[in-house]
Amino acid sequence: METKIQDIQIGKKLFGEDFIWGVSTAALQTEGSCDIDGKGTSIWDTFAAKKGKILNGDNPNNACEFYHQYQRDIDLIKQLNIPNFRFSISWPRILPGGEGEINQAGIDHYNKVIDYCIEKGVKPWITLYHWDLPEALEIKGGWTNREIIEWFSAYVAICAKAFGDRVKNWMVMNEPAVFTGAGYFFGIHAPGRTGLKNFLPAIHHAILSMVAGAKTLRGILPAAQIGTTFSCSHIEPYSNKIKDINAARRADALINRLFIEPVLGLGYPVNEMPVLKDIEKFSLPGDEENLKFDFDFIGIQNYTREIVRYSLFTPYINASLVKAEKRNVELTSMKWEVYPPAIYHMVKKFNGYPQIKKLYITENGAAFPDEVIDDKVNDTKRTAYIQANLQQILKAKDEGYKISGYFIWTLTDNFEWAEGYHPRFGLIYIDFKTQQRIIKASGHWYRDFLSEEVKG
Ligand code: GAL
Repeated sequence: METKIQDIQIGKKLFGEDFIWGVSTAALQTEGSCDIDGKGTSIWDTFAAKKGKILNGDNPNNACEFYHQYQRDIDLIKQLNIPNFRFSISWPRILPGGEGEINQAGIDHYNKVIDYCIEKGVKPWITLYHWDLPEALEIKGGWTNREIIEWFSAYVAICAKAFGDRVKNWMVMNEPAVFTGAGYFFGIHAPGRTGLKNFLPAIHHAILSMVAGAKTLRGILPAAQIGTTFSCSHIEPYSNKIKDINAARRADALINRLFIEPVLGLGYPVNEMPVLKDIEKFSLPGDEENLKFDFDFIGIQNYTREIVRYSLFTPYINASLVKAEKRNVELTSMKWEVYPPAIYHMVKKFNGYPQIKKLYITENGAAFPDEVIDDKVNDTKRTAYIQANLQQILKAKDEGYKISGYFIWTLTDNFEWAEGYHPRFGLIYIDFKTQQRIIKASGHWYRDFLSEEVKG
């Protein structure tokens, strides 16, 4: 009999003793201090300085001031009972020029952050690349230059040696589909490049680098848990016409399969996306093997679903998304549909790859227009969103699909890339003028949920 979602209670205990609970952040979105203590410029610093690239002319220069005030936010993580904290290392803080000379102040900084987490009983989970490429490397072609495999591996080796004695869980990359797609095809994210001539080499070099980075980690830290993270959306055809069904298949290949499948040894999804055959132009003998890695875990990051229809005028893929705004559905501030079953479908979908050993949700959350009233933020929609998503995850788990952890995006409101500070995703509200924090009702809810008092 099918489990009805309203029948599912979401006490923490139902997920099992070993289920991992956490919260995720990223360096560029939170740290600020963009030119302090020897940090090099990142592509996002450069991109945000250009006119019209970021909503409201916002920039990440100060963000949440996490660089200086990391103790304040790690104290809040502790206060919310969150046992695992996923954050990223800024490549240009460690290597201001992207390669070559190491910035000791950068290493010292992350040592302090890691040590403070451990002191507070919070486990650090490190993402090595969450989109803030050193500008010095972008000038040399960034992800379109094959040399990036060496640049990235050298950076990973430095981090592994510096932090690996205390950090067990590593994520090599965050969502390669997004930083290559938005950054090198559509040009709406840094570095703002467009077209297939940039996108195809960026895809190939990103995967080769991800695998080379993972191998570097494994060589230096044989006991580490090594993972990487992928964005994913549940895809549905607009109608049951064969044209729309096939368009949805192509969109699924682009959005959900393009990066995971080569890593699992299944190759690029060329049947659905023949244009990917042109990746050959950027390939060398032996590459196929070097796209594969036996990750200890895969992190999937899901926020919504997409409805896809056939489109004659969309090059390469002949498919377009039917905007959620036009579908009369509940929306977040990102104009994404609130559709919790999407995460259930994604857990199921990734369980369809028997090669994946362990699966975590490394990001899930929602931006809503929060309001401060009497020093409180009563963000009922966010709490409901998280609860509904957890119900869906539990449903998948109860049906026997493997899923081993859940990280909320995100701790505090932060710099949401091209959208600037407008969308608020945090469990904690930030007044960006004063940097004052207010734990939102969703944060209090997560704290109670994670505390032992919750009855399963
Ligand atoms: C993910 C990304 C995060 C965050 C989130 C919400 O794609 O990894 O950095 O911005 O989306 O949009």
